[in-house]
Amino acid sequence: MTGFSLRGTIMHTPERGTCDVVERALVEVGADGAITRVLKPDDAEYETALEEARTAGRLTELSGNQYLLPGLIDLHIHAPQWPQLGKSLHLPLYDWLQNCTFPLEAKYADTAFADRVYGSLVSSLLANGTTTAVYFATAHLEATQRLADHCIEKGQRGFVGKVVMDDPEQCPDYYRDASAAQALDETVAFIEYVRGLDGNGSELVRPIVTPRFIPSCSDDALSGLGAIAHDHKCHVQTHCSESDWEHSFVLDRHGKTDTQSLADFGLITRHTVLAHSNFISDPDMDLIGNVGAGIAHCPLSNFYFSNAVFPLRAALNKGLHVGLGTDISGGHSASMLHACRYAVAASRALEDGVDAALAAETRGRANARIDFMEAFWLATAGGAQALDLKVGRFAPGYRFDAMLVDAGVEDSSLLVWDDLDTAEDVFQKIVYTAERNNIRKVWVDGIIRLDKTA
Ligand code: GUN
Ligand code: FE
Repeated sequence: MTGFSLRGTIMHTPERGTCDVVERALVEVGADGAITRVLKPDDAEYETALEEARTAGRLTELSGNQYLLPGLIDLHIHAPQWPQLGKSLHLPLYDWLQNCTFPLEAKYADTAFADRVYGSLVSSLLANGTTTAVYFATAHLEATQRLADHCIEKGQRGFVGKVVMDDPEQCPDYYRDASAAQALDETVAFIEYVRGLDGNGSELVRPIVTPRFIPSCSDDALSGLGAIAHDHKCHVQTHCSESDWEHSFVLDRHGKTDTQSLADFGLITRHTVLAHSNFISDPDMDLIGNVGAGIAHCPLSNFYFSNAVFPLRAALNKGLHVGLGTDISGGHSASMLHACRYAVAASRALEDGVDAALAAETRGRANARIDFMEAFWLATAGGAQALDLKVGRFAPGYRFDAMLVDAGVEDSSLLVWDDLDTAEDVFQKIVYTAERNNIRKVWVDGIIRLDKTA
């Protein structure tokens, strides 16, 4: 690949709480897929750089309806639950796992089934602008390897985890690791497989140590996974204090919170992503913050399974690393723009409260709301910070993971009124109203991975 330059309106949120919109920006991407320069029209080098790119035939100009935004980061998604998207949401978490989700996930013993689902999923996520996904796969080694293969093939940046669930008390006979020892051996085999994959020299796809959650794992598996994460310098993901049932289960079993227990097993590190964490205490937040671990806030799924809304503002005020996840299929949308909308709505529900029978003063939690800029930051720069990746913004040295949003497509739900909308208004409208058909092109690591403009 040779380098290239793009000229047009860029929109991103490098700092949480503000947005940066630059019209006629010039973004230069090097042959290695990293951004080399981002120039504004009044920068001294702008005209020369523009002319050079034009002469070299490496310039692409966006049209007036088109906007360049960073690719979206889904910090928490269950790949095998893709066929379950949009169904079975009437049950509480425990029953949903036992009656719907474990039977579905068990089917991935068949790698042909895995290929069918994972091919569809990775393509759909890219089409929704998700350039990085942090995946739970299943307990099966081979099917999980197939998910990593699909990410490499389609060029999606990803973290892929073989799920560990070995406790016979909580996991059914037909779907669980045969023993802690086997789960640990397969986790190491999977790490080695991903790191040795052809075409993965740049570590586009990385392995991630994945205890499903404390209730489904034996203590031996949890401590063994902590050691593996340390020895193999690997990211970690799990579910943390998700619902009343789950949080209480861990308090009963270990006499401490999920966070404290996971930390004691060596599973809370700078490279850990904790899904949900709705019921974390102040000391839990301090522990997570001190280590620099990340939280995947999954607002849509919280409405179905969590009995509460994540205390997002409190976590951000404490400086915790937070991003957003779809939590498919606990959430019923593949779109990270939807996740932004649900994050705003959840924060507003928390702030005002929702029960009209209560007095206004006691109904909610003051100052909990976030706006569209903070939501978009969570879905891009915030997620990147949690993962310790140089993506999620347009700046020199960052990988070029991006999406082209076009307001001029047929049947657009994104409507721009040139005489009424400022460029910042358009950014807001994209976050609130753009859909998959507005996303016309997607780049990962500087390579075009989806192109509907051709
Ligand atoms: N806790 C353990 N497994 C799961 C899962 O698949 N989805 C959600 N939302 N929570 C879980
Ligand atoms: Fe989940």
